[in-house]
Amino acid sequence: WPKDVGILDLEVYFPAQYVDQTDLEKYNNVEAGKYTVGLGQTQMGFCSVQEDINSLCLTVVQRLMERTRLPWDSVGRLEVGTETIIDKSKAVKTVLMELFQDSGNTDIEGIDTTNACYGGTASLFNAANWMESSYWDGRYALVVCGDIAVYPNGNARPTGGAGAVAMLIGPNAPLALEQGLRGTHMENAYDFYKPNLASEYPLVDGKLSIQCYFRALDKCYASYRRKIQNQWKQDGVDRPFTLDDIQYMIFHTPFCKMVQKSLGRLMFSDFLSSSSDTRNTSYKGLEAFRNLKLEDTYTNKDVDKALLKASLDTFNKKTRASLYLSTHNGNMYTSSLYGCLASLLAHHSAQDLAGSRIGAFSYGSGLAASLFSFRVSKDASPGSPLEKLVSSVSDLPQRLASRRRMSPEEFTEVMNQREQFYHKSNFSPPGDINNLFPGTWYLERVDEMHRRKYARRP
Ligand code: CAA
Repeated sequence: WPKDVGILDLEVYFPAQYVDQTDLEKYNNVEAGKYTVGLGQTQMGFCSVQEDINSLCLTVVQRLMERTRLPWDSVGRLEVGTETIIDKSKAVKTVLMELFQDSGNTDIEGIDTTNACYGGTASLFNAANWMESSYWDGRYALVVCGDIAVYPNGNARPTGGAGAVAMLIGPNAPLALEQGLRGTHMENAYDFYKPNLASEYPLVDGKLSIQCYFRALDKCYASYRRKIQNQWKQDGVDRPFTLDDIQYMIFHTPFCKMVQKSLGRLMFSDFLSSSSDTRNTSYKGLEAFRNLKLEDTYTNKDVDKALLKASLDTFNKKTRASLYLSTHNGNMYTSSLYGCLASLLAHHSAQDLAGSRIGAFSYGSGLAASLFSFRVSKDASPGSPLEKLVSSVSDLPQRLASRRRMSPEEFTEVMNQREQFYHKSNFSPPGDINNLFPGTWYLERVDEMHRRKYARRP
């Protein structure tokens, strides 16, 4: 089989407009700090009616292929992960085939995968599995994930966002998926779901969703740890796996504070399974909770506080940099985890990252979750695949800074327009295409048969 299958390149797309979370706090008449400190969110990107899931994915794939200058017929598989469903039958993937038309390449496996925010990870696993199977034909795979995260007026609205990520998957990758190391947890839960087909909005039980996320994290970490320890045993190493064995840790990010708490929970798992002689000094302040069970602590504020304090240094070293896009753009559902990966790469040099392990936790409500890891290549020399990958995302902060700030009133007006046009036919979306980033695909027209036509801003 090919060696070191993983991410060779990665492209991120987010909308050209955002609303500031401080402005939203005032507009929504909530206490100052609730969104910015309590949720850890700074800004939230949002799409006008000129953008939908198809246009987001068209844009991100086009950008990746143009930048890498890869021939369109070098792709043999294209997977899409999304939960922004505008058609119950027709896959986003089929719309993306339009980009390949001129090349004549129609021999491309893969369709859409959906389960809340987990679809991107399922797509990544599918692509890697294909590449490590007898069906692989030697070509690249593309994994595309994207979503428009919108909520009705209320508590959940500030945890919205929008964006897409495209990843080029191949062998000898600078970010190689570590084989045999996926800790997965799946169960039946109604924490966040979308039964209302006439609306873009989910139904959310916010508090339950947080407990489900934490439970899935604990379970996935336990499985991952068991699997890596088993691998080690075969190599003659018999010691517990802890967070110290992960140099960088990224998470699906519904809002940034959740991630900081999640890192604390991983430390708590290590602490509870440690014995007094292996206990690490970084577990300071946790001794009082030694007799608790993980599952009894999801809503325990004292545990929360102690974990945030004990894990602060570790969070600053391993995770904080990965939250850059999430805090400035919000939740991107399936693409959130991979936006975190891009942020991590954008804020470290190739030398910093070389040889490290990046742990990744993917969570999709309903629920499906996995914790897995990438091994970063050791070669960080100029011109190496790792160095190229890192420099390709280094403009992320400048790109975010070039967006337009919109008022909460304008944001609300756009949300109202999205409601008005959702699932309508026979219309041309209102708006000025000059408000989009150059090169962005947009929805030009939905005809009376619900067929969607897209165009590209010069
Ligand atoms: N200054 C500082 N902090 C403040 C504050 C202030 N003035 N006012 C409140 N806070 C803090 C609160 O103490 C709380 O923090 P802690 O939980 O650490 O104590 C935080 O701000 C949020 O306040 P509330 O709990 O009162 O918030 P809420 O109930 O109004 O809404 C929410 C929060 C439940 C997350 C809601 O936004 C929501 O439902 N969002 C969508 C669901 C979601 O994101 N779930 C996450 C897990 S599910 C998942 O991951 C899948 C997915 O992508 C959706």
